[in-house]
Amino acid sequence: MAKLDIITLPDRKLRLVSEPVERVDDELRRFADDMLEAMYAAPGIGLAAIQVGVPRRMLVCDVAQREDEEAEQDPMVLINPQILSSSDGRTTREEGCLSIPDYFAEVERPESIRVAYIDRDGKNQEIEASGVLATCLQHEIDHLNGKLFIDYLSKLRRDMVIKRFTKQARLSPRPAAL
Ligand code: NI
Repeated sequence: MAKLDIITLPDRKLRLVSEPVERVDDELRRFADDMLEAMYAAPGIGLAAIQVGVPRRMLVCDVAQREDEEAEQDPMVLINPQILSSSDGRTTREEGCLSIPDYFAEVERPESIRVAYIDRDGKNQEIEASGVLATCLQHEIDHLNGKLFIDYLSKLRRDMVIKRFTKQARLSPRPAAL
């Protein structure tokens, strides 16, 4: 399997609005598996395609071990996910992002959501998500729209984070990919 690299701030691709997936085929399923591998290796509980530089509306997640370390892996692949409805009730949870390493902040979002998506077999699905899964899906769907969790923070805090990562990138430029 191809190893995928996760892009981080201040990579401008993170601000792209991803395009819908048009066909679910073996190539896309392989890409989903590669995304899951990169997510588990990171380790993380969710990953959007744009985080590996691919502007397609697709995400993977697995919150099973977040709630119970002994739990079996429960990978999900959501293609062209769409939030159909959000609860009025809101909840605040600490979030992090594989594209903003080692930075965490509390974000308030709807407590539960209903999401329509296409699964890895190309079938239409709907899911009612609450708890960590609801937070995770909203965070990942934001990525598909070029939005990051730091956008929910005050401008002052957001600018601080962006400045920190921009400075880091300047001090230790990533080696050229050969
Ligand atoms: Ni993220």
